[in-house]
Amino acid sequence: MEMGIRNFTFRNPTKILFGKKRIEDIGAEIPEDAKVLIIFGGGSVKRNGAFDRTVAALGNRQWDAFGGIEANPTFETAMKAVEKVKDQGFTFLMAVGGGSVIDATKFIAAASVFEGNPIDMFTGGIGKGLPITHALPFGTVLTLPATASEMNSGAVITFVELQAKISFGSPVTFPQFSVLEPELTYTLPKRQLVNGVIDTFVHTMENYLTYPVDAKLQDHYAESILQTIIEIAPQVIDEEHLDYAARANFMWAATNALNGTISAGVPTDWATHALGHEITLNHGIDHGRTLSIVLPAMMKIRKKEKWDKLLQYGKRVWNLSGDDATIVDQAIEQTENFFQSLDAPVRFSDVDLDASVVDALLAGLERHKKTQLSERGDLTLEIAKEIYFEAL
Ligand code: NZQ
Ligand code: ZN
Repeated sequence: MEMGIRNFTFRNPTKILFGKKRIEDIGAEIPEDAKVLIIFGGGSVKRNGAFDRTVAALGNRQWDAFGGIEANPTFETAMKAVEKVKDQGFTFLMAVGGGSVIDATKFIAAASVFEGNPIDMFTGGIGKGLPITHALPFGTVLTLPATASEMNSGAVITFVELQAKISFGSPVTFPQFSVLEPELTYTLPKRQLVNGVIDTFVHTMENYLTYPVDAKLQDHYAESILQTIIEIAPQVIDEEHLDYAARANFMWAATNALNGTISAGVPTDWATHALGHEITLNHGIDHGRTLSIVLPAMMKIRKKEKWDKLLQYGKRVWNLSGDDATIVDQAIEQTENFFQSLDAPVRFSDVDLDASVVDALLAGLERHKKTQLSERGDLTLEIAKEIYFEAL
């Protein structure tokens, strides 16, 4: 493989408002004459005060709210919000919630002004994948560090009727601003904290565990996110002892894992996510929990392809030494042990699934045109099957 950072274009326009009491500052970021639609999920933001504080910060602006965005947000629900935006002429959207609410808001922002059927914003066997050239402006108040959706332009939408979980993205779907208040994570249950830790770890790995191109900054940056997560995870997932410093480090690490910095000009591999999305779709397993099941198996089956990076990861992230083969094996083992130390599932059997589910997962990958995955495009359905079986 040729060495050196590949050509890239990088632009991330999202303004970050980080720290304590930052919701109060959003008034300065939204036009005075905006008509604002606040978008939220199942109610956690009403219980932890984020919703009321957002309303207060809007001052005299006109506003309304659309609640009920599901975890793994659906096209069907988001389209109801699109109708509301169109009917009532909202000009600015405010997402208050986790990745699902932010992703749904990205879709609503683009679909509300999309010329044609919004389904054609998607590829993956769903729509025509037409370009998304404009969207309503929106801001976010993040309540769950995990997806980095607060500082990227991507979104993952679930189609209930069509049985698909497909992402889209566009340069016009970055949030204008995102509020990152670590204290908003204090109401998260342990399971969601674990999900966020795993998602952050795996985003970093998808951007890192490929083959070396001598991109020194991206590699060291990714390794430092991984080390940060490993170091703070025990404090982060401790619901009993709320630790501001740990939550602050967690929140910023999660954002950095997928805001485009570590992926600039390097090969990336989104196969763990692709295999995981099918598990969520078929069995309703949380996104983070699918990743902790798939990644260790992915590392085992793809050991040869990822050898050089696995070695680097073992030495630099886990401080392993010895002969190369031992380092690689121990690096995989350490990763799995780390996930288990968080009480995250690392096998299908940990979430009460067995070999009987694999055929349907593979059929889904085929239907969604995920048959040439990984940094080299060489992860076929046959190899996906091996990975799923390894994870049983
Ligand atoms: O719905 P509410 O009541 O708000 O409760 C949510 C939800 O039940 C709850 N929650 C969020 N913040 C809380 C809280 N509960 C208490 N206190 C708080 N502060 O947590 C539950 C899960 O929320 P969700 O938003 O679904 O989780 P997450 O942020 O992990 O998002 C998952 C979605 O993001 C997609 C996933 O596929 C999945 O659909 N992803 C998006 C990405 C992106 N846009 O770049 C990349 C990721 O890889 C991922 O695929
Ligand atoms: Zn993810």
